[in-house]
Amino acid sequence: MTSAAFPALRLRRTRSAPWSRALVSEAAVTPSDLIWPLFVTEGKGIEDPIASMPGVSRWSVDLIVERAKEARTLGIPCIALFPNTPAERRSDDGREAVNPDNLMCSAIAAIKDAVPEVGVLTDVALDPYTSHGHDGLLDAKGRILNDATSDVLIEQALVQARAGADIVAPSDMMDGRVGRIRAALEADGHHDVQIMAYAAKYASAFYGPFRDAVGSRGLLKGDKRTYQMDPANAEEALREVAMDLAEGADTVMVKPGLPYLDIVRRVKDRFQVPVFAYQVSGEYAMIEAAAAAGAGDRDALALETMLAFKRAGCSGVLTYYAKRVAELLGD
Ligand code: PBG
Repeated sequence: MTSAAFPALRLRRTRSAPWSRALVSEAAVTPSDLIWPLFVTEGKGIEDPIASMPGVSRWSVDLIVERAKEARTLGIPCIALFPNTPAERRSDDGREAVNPDNLMCSAIAAIKDAVPEVGVLTDVALDPYTSHGHDGLLDAKGRILNDATSDVLIEQALVQARAGADIVAPSDMMDGRVGRIRAALEADGHHDVQIMAYAAKYASAFYGPFRDAVGSRGLLKGDKRTYQMDPANAEEALREVAMDLAEGADTVMVKPGLPYLDIVRRVKDRFQVPVFAYQVSGEYAMIEAAAAAGAGDRDALALETMLAFKRAGCSGVLTYYAKRVAELLGD
């Protein structure tokens, strides 16, 4: 049976030539959509490749500054920093997180000094600093303490803001921390420091390579299901976003990315605020594995995922492909 509209309607007409496809394309990716996550390690002149993330390395502060310069050159507006804390600085209470001279703060200060035009986003959570690999403090029974954890997160956000962070991004999933961090930032004079809330962060199997990168995989006892969200839930993501926005989040994030594009779309439709997605380490590793196996072309796969994020409603994407994608877009 032919449709009544055919042949008056032929949807292939607008697809028939590159100029026409360019005219009717609905979504676009530009370097300004990208946030580039980078791992910092101690030392000088160090590039330390991460085995489970081919093509991604930990860099010492001096070389992180070089990466920030690359971001500037490529038109990537913002980088996100994560530390690999030496084992001897990890503790049950993760107190290294609030040390104003820690690796994160040194990296933030060095970048803002050398490349002030590039935005610096910092993760607020304790897992790179705790000896047990959890994002928060534990009680005697091993449960994550919500409010006591927030007390430390507030201090962590403050040392990061004082070092020059432009966006603090709580990724811990404690209740009420966004409002408390906002109040502390205001009281300390950081009126323009933004909060990007990891609002809908799921307890995901896609974070494995990241935990290698920050050195917490082997340390983690149990899982994060009492604070990160159940992958089964979407309504709850909307409540998380509503709560973080009410508490003063400037922007919100959905994480992981590609398996959760339905959440991105629902958040965007409901709230009309800037929504970001984090294409996490396991998603990156999956594409790398596919490319290495000859199952797909890395660059094409990466670019298509970027377009998918934009189409779903993202203002931007945190992705380990940021540099590569920006290079491809510039060619
Ligand atoms: C830490 C944090 C994680 C990621 C970002 N911040 C890991 C986790 O929650 O266990 C994951 C990023 C990635 O996998 O690329 N709170």
